[in-house]
Amino acid sequence: MELKHQVDLKPYNTFGLSAKAENFSTFSTVDELRQIISENRDKELLVLGGGSNMLLTKDYPGLVLKNELKGIEVIQEDQDFVLLKAAAGEVWHQLVLHAIENGFGGIENMSLIPGSAGAAPMQNIGAYGVEIKDVFHELEALEIASGQIRKFTNKECDFGYRESVFKRALKGKYIITSITLKLSKNPILNTSYGAIEERLKEMGVIHPTIKDVSDAVIYIRQTKLPDPAQIGNSGSFFKNPVIPKSKFEVIRNKFPGISSYPVDDNHVKLAAGWLIDNAGWKGKTFGNYGVHKNQALVLVNYGGATGKEIYQLSEDIMNSVKEIYDVDLEREVNVI
Ligand code: EPU
Repeated sequence: MELKHQVDLKPYNTFGLSAKAENFSTFSTVDELRQIISENRDKELLVLGGGSNMLLTKDYPGLVLKNELKGIEVIQEDQDFVLLKAAAGEVWHQLVLHAIENGFGGIENMSLIPGSAGAAPMQNIGAYGVEIKDVFHELEALEIASGQIRKFTNKECDFGYRESVFKRALKGKYIITSITLKLSKNPILNTSYGAIEERLKEMGVIHPTIKDVSDAVIYIRQTKLPDPAQIGNSGSFFKNPVIPKSKFEVIRNKFPGISSYPVDDNHVKLAAGWLIDNAGWKGKTFGNYGVHKNQALVLVNYGGATGKEIYQLSEDIMNSVKEIYDVDLEREVNVI
């Protein structure tokens, strides 16, 4: 823990964008975190986990804090369930692998999602039919104003689709320090997602284990999504928009091939990837950034692009989607 100045954030965000933090510090204990905060009350804070869900468009004048809280432990268990607690700075995928190695099921479908454990509940990460809220028990977070640790239950996190209370009412008020998941020793697998079923078949697996499901998910993600270590990106750049069913019918009349999922009796979720792809953006490259060739929902930095350029590309895509389908896209990433 040492306060540094003018630190390039390029290694700390998966888009690989350069932006300078006026002030920068890591923390590896909650006490360190408390101390840094109390000594820097005058500065605006930005906490980085894996830096996998942010678009840095300019230098940051405040204090960037890199979460390095580590540790994974079972805090309670019985015959059927285990409460697995992970410090917020753990890499999410390492937590998934740890759970699988120990036979704890529930998060295998979320294998290989980039980011830290602490960032996972912020946006209620999800993939292949499972969201963290499905296995979430509680989290601990430090209240910035008081320095006190508070626990939040699943209900108190008020999870929604890529949403939680930490992105809304409590935005900027707490720093998540640990998460606890309720995982199953006799997991019921969720292989309903078409691509998982197909991959398990290809693997010749008839009675899949959590490891098989994880392997299938890893394979699917690796074939479809760019690896941030090789090509800068932040996963899905936009959310899948939810629209009224009546509006959906109008759009489907014009675009019968549209990809969608039912939400409830009155709402439908559209695949933003399909909307963007069908609007002709997939694989488009502009200098050293563009739209990924296999998944139109993912914007990529081939190296050396600026956050402003990628932001402008996202604006252009949003305008184009609005014009073609009259649908408003919303960014999933946090724009800084
Ligand atoms: N599609 C296209 N063209 C594309 C991309 C997608 O036509 O370029 C179509 C696909 O054919 C499919 C539909 O759109 O019919 C949905 O695509 P996909 O299965 O790839 O999933 P998604 O809705 O684009 C969501 C999550 C992903 C998650 C996958 C799998 C959001 C914003 N994204 O993507 O999450 O991995 O489902 O469950 O909800 C993330 O949030 O960063 C992320 C990667």
